[in-house]
Amino acid sequence: MSVVTFVSYDGAKFEAPFTEGQSLMQVATESAIPGIDGDCGGEAACGTCHVIVDPQWSETVGRSGPAEEEMLSMNPERQLTSRLSCQMAVCNEWDGLIVELPEFQM
Ligand code: FES
Repeated sequence: MSVVTFVSYDGAKFEAPFTEGQSLMQVATESAIPGIDGDCGGEAACGTCHVIVDPQWSETVGRSGPAEEEMLSMNPERQLTSRLSCQMAVCNEWDGLIVELPEFQM
């Protein structure tokens, strides 16, 4: 079983199992990870699925695409490795992935 760890802004850790092909947002919501809302259902239109990828994983998971970039550019909590988790299709090579959660979803 592949697992991703979500780390909240206060350091609390939550592990969630995933199946290849799901979006990271789906992985989070199915495991009721606090701090991932996914209000638009994965259309890159709300920005409430913001995660900050652990820098060690940044190359592996890749960078944001144009639609994602547009949403992230409006987010004051954006960081260098920020992504919208709904735009990240997980694969088994991501087993052990660590992402941080911002204090607030915008
Ligand atoms: Fe709305 Fe990701 S779920 S932008």
